Amino acid sequence: MDVLDLLDIESEVSLPKRYRELSIEEMENRVQEIKANFGDRLFIPGHHYQKDEVIQFADARGDSLKLAQVCATMNQAEYIAFCGVHFMAETADMLTRPDQKIILPDLRAGCSMADMANIDQTERGWEKMQKIWGDTILPLTYVNSTAAIKGFVGKHGGACVTSGNVKKMLEWAFTQKERILFLPDQHLGRNTAYDLGIKLEEMAVYAPHTHSFEYDGEWKDVKVILWKGHCSVHEKFNIQHVENLRKQDPEINIIVHPECIFDVVQASDYAGSTNYIIETIKNAPEGSKWAIGTEMNLVNRIIDDHPDKKIVSLNPFMCPCLTMNRIDLPHLLWSLEKLESGEVVNQITVPEEVTKYAVLSLERMLERS
Ligand code: 13P
Ligand code: SF4
Repeated sequence: MDVLDLLDIESEVSLPKRYRELSIEEMENRVQEIKANFGDRLFIPGHHYQKDEVIQFADARGDSLKLAQVCATMNQAEYIAFCGVHFMAETADMLTRPDQKIILPDLRAGCSMADMANIDQTERGWEKMQKIWGDTILPLTYVNSTAAIKGFVGKHGGACVTSGNVKKMLEWAFTQKERILFLPDQHLGRNTAYDLGIKLEEMAVYAPHTHSFEYDGEWKDVKVILWKGHCSVHEKFNIQHVENLRKQDPEINIIVHPECIFDVVQASDYAGSTNYIIETIKNAPEGSKWAIGTEMNLVNRIIDDHPDKKIVSLNPFMCPCLTMNRIDLPHLLWSLEKLESGEVVNQITVPEEVTKYAVLSLERMLERS
């Protein structure tokens, strides 16, 4: 039995049967009621990938960057019930005062990409990189990473990035050091570095499990070291999907998230964060045709919001992000009813010694966004 199984059991045990028996209307009314009673003392941020049944209660919707920015300024909220995944709740904790409490309605809402880099692997890999390249590397981490990784990056002068500011942050990073270590999403790192004119031959991949590099060239030519991690949702889009759609309809516009693999991003017309995808389609002409390569809850919402445009998923058999989907109406209501009764459940707290450095990496990003 692994950790996820244990969390499964723990969460089912902690969610009383009642929450499976209430009607949707009853649950929705209760959430509204609790929100109204708490007023400004309770704030609910919601990531774009959340289910409709949850996002309808969000006081702010956004991509990772916007939600981090909003939480950093939410001074009046005593409680932040984060409808998103674990690394986002950790980020919110680090950007708020110690007396503000962050709640993740279901602790199983992790991120498989963030789990692909742990601190021991990172320190071990870094040591090897220092032996090869010396003090020429600046680490950058996608916010989809644990607080410990953000702390490591902060300690070594680096910063966090999101899909909304990654280009700007990579440009900044190259003003600091000759080389960049990009954690943990190889695809976002590769797509962005290529966009900035770095050749594929100048990018090495570091595989943490084998503690080795996937690289054929000479060490001195490496400009970007990509951590071998990925998003299991966005990796489901492939070049065949793009080619099939283009064949069916040469006029279709293809827009994808930069967590998609290099070939898919290259073959698409546009790539950017969830906010970028939403805004691009909102501003597109009536009657235009689109295929979107990102998480299904968001794609379905965009389709519903734009009946005047023809929109499909780039992969017709796409699944939603399972961990984002862990946050559902029963768990949201359960955590809020506990709060109402004076009990804070599923609080996310990052230890002081980690926050100290991790916050540096977040602040370096926020200053430049
Ligand atoms: P953004 O909303 O920041 O584009 O991030 C997408 C994502 O995968 C979050 O986990
Ligand atoms: Fe993590 Fe991918 Fe889900 Fe985003 S979509 S939370 S990166 S697994």
